Amino acid sequence: MKKLWGGRFSKTPEQWIEEFGASISFDQQLVLEDIEGSLAHVKMLGKTGILTQDESELIQAGLLKLKEKAQAGELEYSVSEEDIHLNLEKMLIDEIGPAGGKLHTGRSRNDQVATDMHLYLKKQVQVIIAHIKEMQAALVGQAEKHVETILPGYTHLQRAQPISFGHHLLAYFWMLERDKQRFEESLKRIDISPLGASALAGTTFPIDRQYSAELLGFSSVYENSMDAVSDRDFIVEFLSNSALAITHLTRLAEEIILWSSKEFSFIELDDTYATGSSIMPQKKNPDMAELIRGKSGRVFGNLLSMLTILKGLPMTYNKDMQEDKEGMFDTVHTMVGSLKIFAGMIETMTVKADVMEEAVNQDFSNATELADYLAAKGIPFREAHEIVGKLVLYCINKNCYLLDLTLEEFKEACGEISDDVYGVLSPTEAVRRRNSYGGTGFDQVKIQLEQAKKLI
Ligand code: ARG
Repeated sequence: MKKLWGGRFSKTPEQWIEEFGASISFDQQLVLEDIEGSLAHVKMLGKTGILTQDESELIQAGLLKLKEKAQAGELEYSVSEEDIHLNLEKMLIDEIGPAGGKLHTGRSRNDQVATDMHLYLKKQVQVIIAHIKEMQAALVGQAEKHVETILPGYTHLQRAQPISFGHHLLAYFWMLERDKQRFEESLKRIDISPLGASALAGTTFPIDRQYSAELLGFSSVYENSMDAVSDRDFIVEFLSNSALAITHLTRLAEEIILWSSKEFSFIELDDTYATGSSIMPQKKNPDMAELIRGKSGRVFGNLLSMLTILKGLPMTYNKDMQEDKEGMFDTVHTMVGSLKIFAGMIETMTVKADVMEEAVNQDFSNATELADYLAAKGIPFREAHEIVGKLVLYCINKNCYLLDLTLEEFKEACGEISDDVYGVLSPTEAVRRRNSYGGTGFDQVKIQLEQAKKLI
């Protein structure tokens, strides 16, 4: 079939080569952005008198028709038209006749595709921000219910000190808050119009870039036409922000997987977010958490692949850049899906507060309490640490916990200990007393909750 760019060519490529070079199978996701960009461009062509008002209006009507068809899923794309831009231009000409061929005056596919990508990401980043907020709301909702639910806090995955479960959940709230800020902050570098940069050097037509940018809702225009068509930094930044955000999701995924194991039994996931085994009837697997942990692989891969595509590329547009799209689409879909799943999974999980509390009682995570108690009585902390370490060993040999010791046993270890030690060793009291700013003390967690709520 004759190409829209076919004038200089004496033969058309074989079909399999055409297919190899085509992007229509995936860039059709940009159909609405492409039409939006074309509408702004052709309005600008009419306003500046580059096309007559009649021509501009005729083309606008044709584009609106295509938009309707696109929304109804009625457009039929063809590989021989290569990409979304040429497909739509061909359809426009079929729709309104040769005047459709005037749409491409003063622009190129290079600024056109860049415009589409900016429009697309600007929208999608806002969608992702909204989903981050939903997940934050789910964390806040559970945290609020579990300010006074205590469980062991871990370092090295070894029980360390008792903490509030609300405090633990809110740690993820703040990670997500930084992710949200990074996405918000990136918007100002996405919200720039490349349209009118044309192929690379600008155009001889008296176009008005500010006007088309304004029509598209962009806050500014690229200052340099070459930068405008070759910049994909905004995509790298999006992929990088996504990689870090999904890293955070994998950490929580890992905890959810651990917590829902028989060994921990701290939570039970709602059935919606788990699946059974085809052979073992008793199984309830935390599939969704595992899957998100695994999907981080593709998100990291997409970042590395984009960096590799750009590395060493000379100015300006190079066909390599067509490879920027699939990873971006895939990352958008992965992030939206993962955040949505997580919000629901957190919101609906059952927290087994009694098991968590039991884990704290059957444990030495109140040992620091005893060391602090001795230190408060004037014993140098290093010595207090040694005394408590020996007591822990004594308990291990006796197969009991610190709270099981008699006052005589305590006094034997250190004469300074009196019977107020039992109150100090209570895990709930241990948590309550960690009231330093940002600590796990219940009052601090309540303050944190108030701050978190203001941000969602
Ligand atoms: N399909 C191309 C892409 O996605 C559009 C830009 C093509 N420009 C060109 N000069 N061949 O990158």
